[in-house]
Amino acid sequence: MLACAIEAWQQAARLPGNPSSMHWAGRQARRVLDDARDALAAHFAVESSGVIFTSGGTEANNLCLAGVLAERQGALLISAIEHPSVLNTATALCQAQPRDLTLLPVDRHGCIDPVAVCAQIDPSTAMVSIMLANNESGVIQSVAVVGEHCQALGVPFHVDAVQGVGKLDCSLDALHADFVSCSAHKIGGAKGTGALIQRRGASLATWMHGGGQERKRRSGTENIAGVAAFAAALSACDFSSCAAVRDDFEQRLLNAMPDVVVYGQSVARLPNTSLFSVPGMDGETLLMQLDLAGFAVASGSACSSGKREPSHVLRAMGVPTALARASLRVSFGAEHTVEDGEALVQALLRVRNLLQSMAG
Ligand SMILES: Cc1ncc(COP(=O)(O)O)c(C=O)c1O
Repeated sequence: MLACAIEAWQQAARLPGNPSSMHWAGRQARRVLDDARDALAAHFAVESSGVIFTSGGTEANNLCLAGVLAERQGALLISAIEHPSVLNTATALCQAQPRDLTLLPVDRHGCIDPVAVCAQIDPSTAMVSIMLANNESGVIQSVAVVGEHCQALGVPFHVDAVQGVGKLDCSLDALHADFVSCSAHKIGGAKGTGALIQRRGASLATWMHGGGQERKRRSGTENIAGVAAFAAALSACDFSSCAAVRDDFEQRLLNAMPDVVVYGQSVARLPNTSLFSVPGMDGETLLMQLDLAGFAVASGSACSSGKREPSHVLRAMGVPTALARASLRVSFGAEHTVEDGEALVQALLRVRNLLQSMAG
C-alpha cells in the first residue's frame, strides 16, 4: 500500500460510526465515504451516484454481469482472455439461465480484433464485456471502438479496467463504457476494496440485497477505511517509471537468453507487466527457485485439481502447450529499479543453469 493510503486507512479505521447512522459518529463516517465517492467519480468522470463500492474487482464484475443480464435477453459476448471473475461468472450465469456465450478470440499478440467483434454485435445482444488490459500479458485492448459500436446499438458495454486504472485514461467517455470495474489493491490501495462505475441511465438490477446501501445496488455496511485508502491511492499512484525498468529488464533478459519469448512486445502494453517463456523450462519450477532467491514472480499456469493447466490467455494466443508451461509473469512497481531487473535476470540465469545441470 502507498504511504498516503495507509495513512488514510488508519484515520478512517479509527472512526467509530457506521455511515448509515444519523448521529455525529455516523455523519463523520459518511463524510469519509462521500469524499472517497466524489474522488472516484471525478477520476472516472461520472456523477457521484455512479460509484458503487464493492469488495474488489471480482465483486464488481459479478455485480455488473449478473445485474445487467437479469434485465436483458440475448447473447453475452466476452473476450477469451478475461480474468476468471468475468470468465467464470459469465459461464455460471449462462448455465443458470441458458443463453449464448461467445468467447471472442485474440490474435497471437493477445489482441482482440475490434472490427470483427463489432460485426458480431447487434441490438439483440444482451451485453458485451471486454477487459481494458490483460492481467497476464498487460496487452491493451481496443475497447473504445467496441464501446462506440455498442452505444450506437443500445447494447450495454462493460470494461474490466482493474489493470488499467492509474495507467490509462479510464473515464467512461474515453472507454465508451456503460460500466467499468476497478480494484484498489492494483494501485496501492487496500486489498478487498473495489468499485463498479455506472454510467447515468445504464440499467443494473439489484443483485446484493439487504439494507439498501449504495443506492440499493450493493447492500452491506461500507468499508470506510478501504474506500478512504482507495481514493488516496488514486490521487497518488504513479507508474511512469515502470516502462523504462520493464523494457530494460526485457532487453537484458533477451541478451542473456536469446531463446526467451516475450509476449505482447510489439503491441500496446501496460508499463509494468512482462510475460515471457523460457523454452525447455517449467514455469512453476522457475517460480519456486526464484522464490528461494527472494523474488516474487508468477507463472502463467493455473493449478487445478493437482493438474497444471497452461494459462487460458496463452492458449487463446495460440502458444504451444510446452512453451505456455514455460512462462513467467513479472510485475514491476514504482519502487523497482533497473538494478532489480538486472538482479532478476542474473537469478534466472543461475536457476536455469542449475536446473539444466541437474537434468543433464
Ligand atoms: C483484470 C482483473 N480483473 C479482476 C481482478 C479481480 O480483482 P480483485 O482481486 O480485486 O477481486 C483482477 C485481479 O487480479 C484482475 O487483474
